[in-house]
Amino acid sequence: MKYGYFDDQRREYVISRPDTPLPWINYLGSEAYFGLISNTAGGYSFYRDARLRRITRYRYNNVPLDCGGRYIYLRDNDTGEFWSPSWQPTRCRLENYVCRHGLGYTIIGSSYQGIEAQTRYFVPLGDNLEIWQLTLTNHRPRPTHLSVFSSIEFCLWDAHDDATNFQRNLSTGEVEIEEGVIYHKTEYRERRNHFAFFACSEDLDGFDTQRDVFLGPYRGWDSPLAVERGCSFNSIAHGWAPMGSHHIQVALAPGESRQIIFLLGYHENPPDQKFDPPGSQRINKQTVKPLIARYLDKDNVDAAFEALRAHWDRLLGVLQVDTPDVHTNRMVNIWNAYQNMVTFNLSRSASFFESGISRGIGFRDSNQDLLGAVHMVPARARQRILDLAATQLETGGAYHQYQPLTKRGNDEIGSGFNDDSLWLVLSVAAYLKETGDWSILDEPVAYENRPGSETSLYEHLERSLRYTLERLGPHGLPLIGRADWNDCLNLNTFSDTPDEPFQTATTRKGGVAESVFIAGLFVLAAKEMERISESVSRRIRDPQFYAEAARRMEAVVLEHGWDGEWFLRAYDAFGRKVGSRECEEGHIFVEPQGFCVMAGIGLEDGRAEQALAAVRERLATPHGIVLQQPAYSRYYLHLGEISSYPPGYKENAGIFCHTNPWIMIAEAMLGHGNQAHDHYLRINPSAREGISEVHRCEPYVYAQMIAGPDAPTHGEAKNSWLTGTAAWNYVAITQWMLGIRPSYEGLQIAPVIPDDWPGFKATRVFRGVTYHITVERVGAGNTVSLIVDGQPIAGNIIPLPPEGQTEVRVEVVLK
Ligand code: BGC
Ligand code: NOJ
Repeated sequence: MKYGYFDDQRREYVISRPDTPLPWINYLGSEAYFGLISNTAGGYSFYRDARLRRITRYRYNNVPLDCGGRYIYLRDNDTGEFWSPSWQPTRCRLENYVCRHGLGYTIIGSSYQGIEAQTRYFVPLGDNLEIWQLTLTNHRPRPTHLSVFSSIEFCLWDAHDDATNFQRNLSTGEVEIEEGVIYHKTEYRERRNHFAFFACSEDLDGFDTQRDVFLGPYRGWDSPLAVERGCSFNSIAHGWAPMGSHHIQVALAPGESRQIIFLLGYHENPPDQKFDPPGSQRINKQTVKPLIARYLDKDNVDAAFEALRAHWDRLLGVLQVDTPDVHTNRMVNIWNAYQNMVTFNLSRSASFFESGISRGIGFRDSNQDLLGAVHMVPARARQRILDLAATQLETGGAYHQYQPLTKRGNDEIGSGFNDDSLWLVLSVAAYLKETGDWSILDEPVAYENRPGSETSLYEHLERSLRYTLERLGPHGLPLIGRADWNDCLNLNTFSDTPDEPFQTATTRKGGVAESVFIAGLFVLAAKEMERISESVSRRIRDPQFYAEAARRMEAVVLEHGWDGEWFLRAYDAFGRKVGSRECEEGHIFVEPQGFCVMAGIGLEDGRAEQALAAVRERLATPHGIVLQQPAYSRYYLHLGEISSYPPGYKENAGIFCHTNPWIMIAEAMLGHGNQAHDHYLRINPSAREGISEVHRCEPYVYAQMIAGPDAPTHGEAKNSWLTGTAAWNYVAITQWMLGIRPSYEGLQIAPVIPDDWPGFKATRVFRGVTYHITVERVGAGNTVSLIVDGQPIAGNIIPLPPEGQTEVRVEVVLK
């Protein structure tokens, strides 16, 4: 069953009924000002940091889930009836409801008794505000008198404090109203020099800023008293819950349309110019007034919207493909790339599953997110790498996350994940391959953000690998620490206290638990490092050192990390196997099968083939590949959080989608185009659109998890949007199946596609050159011959064209 459809032409997903199984959301903003918006206008906004600079309030565990949003109410002043054109919060029976989620904007429209209302929500490039562009049309045969009410509820900035510290916060709220603009200035009197503003293009008939006056006693957002009675109270918030609402009366002749613009924004004043007049307690508004004036002008708003569209055309234009499969095209050309930008911007901080008050920018997560975004925003990727590296410790280890506002690493959500540092090598390798900008390796970067501790970024990479080599266990495999990529494989935690979170509980020191996954990751990273250090003169170790380290680790994996038919997962704190046929449960895990093969382990002796066959046989389901089997049916003290989840969910045998593309890449490396693409389609959101009542999350973006076959809700997705699934699937389909792969030397072309595809076309902008690629299949295999600008070339890497040439034609023959 579907709740809408893809409009590929306009790059939109069109939702045609408001009661989707879950709120289906979109993101506004791509630089500093961000908002989440659901298909019924629910959601919230923040500046840079979803925790520390929350602009509007969101209530956790609310019912309905997305209540609290950017709500507009319309009231028929002739009858007194009122409704919300976005359905929520009044939930009246609307006609022609439609929500169009596009790239960086959302349009929600509907009609009610002949009054059509459409609101376009977006954040213009370069400015810290969101625009709500409301168009009203009277389709009635008679004149109509309407009241329009806007509404938002302000958050008192620190979203965690806002949700907990009521004894203080119910007394601190402050606002100002000037020339029809509502200013939210809680704590501006003291240490904040930022405020929010909520403006409207029309002359006001009234306003409200105190929530409980606007709503009235014992009422919710579905029936505000001000709206019901058709008149604002002009309330001024002193403490309690500051909100913003404008009231505008609109008379519409038959057929007449009117446009009203609302702006919600964030602004900072220089600390010495906070007040006007100086010495007063009034906000200095001179600095923000020109901005407000600019965007209250309809032509400027339209121009800003066009600029936003052009921005996304540019980003997505870096890679466009035309394959025989609509789901591949749609995801690669539009939604997967778009989701990559969202994960790049927000890591795991704010979604309808991530609260925005917990995780900031994750070290492991962001290094992986970068893999899917570096081709679109190389300059921002460069900065992100430097920011991440600056949270590394001198040992080479890393803080697990940092808060975006401060960029300082902290241990708030746990520490001691022994895989973390290695991901930096993969992201830097991806950056170098994409850009050829080797200068990044010479950038001075601090440790723990400590001034004076700087070394070159290159040395950070050396220390990343050293960190693993200095932490090997009894079998010579890397020690796992708190956990590795699988946060929930807590082999050193032994938590028997219900009130301690697994991720921050103390881990036993001196543990011997080892990870085969980290071994695979290490081999991959060391091989990249071998190549990187060849091009670096001021190095500590020779390339040979890394080649040798990779070779040695590979031998250890083959000796101690192989279970007979697949790769083992780990050794526990007692030196017993995890992910082995010998185990009581959890015989086989997906992660080492993917990563060891990706690292090239077992390619020569047939073990890679065997491992992937085991995945197909034991882990693949119609809804994707599960994380392990059999699921853990009870809690195992020595395994930790993984066994805390009921079978089939999350890390306990859920389909943890992030890992699926590793298997796709591995299949492609072995030349199995059919298998790789089959795995790809099983979790491809667009291909699952038709079972939206089962999948339940948005059909246009990946979710972190789909319930596995051990769960009663097999096939149901959770944790949509902010997941490493996005970047890795993009890498798997574009670089390994379509085979358009940046390499240190140039663009490599090595498609491994299904054998019934006649070929495909693609355009790829790479290092300033546009490659027009046509792939034609003439045989069933994966052997590539390249003709570049009419000339056959040897190998499958296209040499960079001479300076000045910006277009290259590539014909690929696949045999
Ligand atoms: C995992 C969750 C886990 C959480 C703890 C996440 O990365 O996916 O299963 O509960 O970390 O913070
Ligand atoms: C989600 C986390 O964000 C990611 O870092 C981790 O690797 C996976 N969960 C698996 O536990």
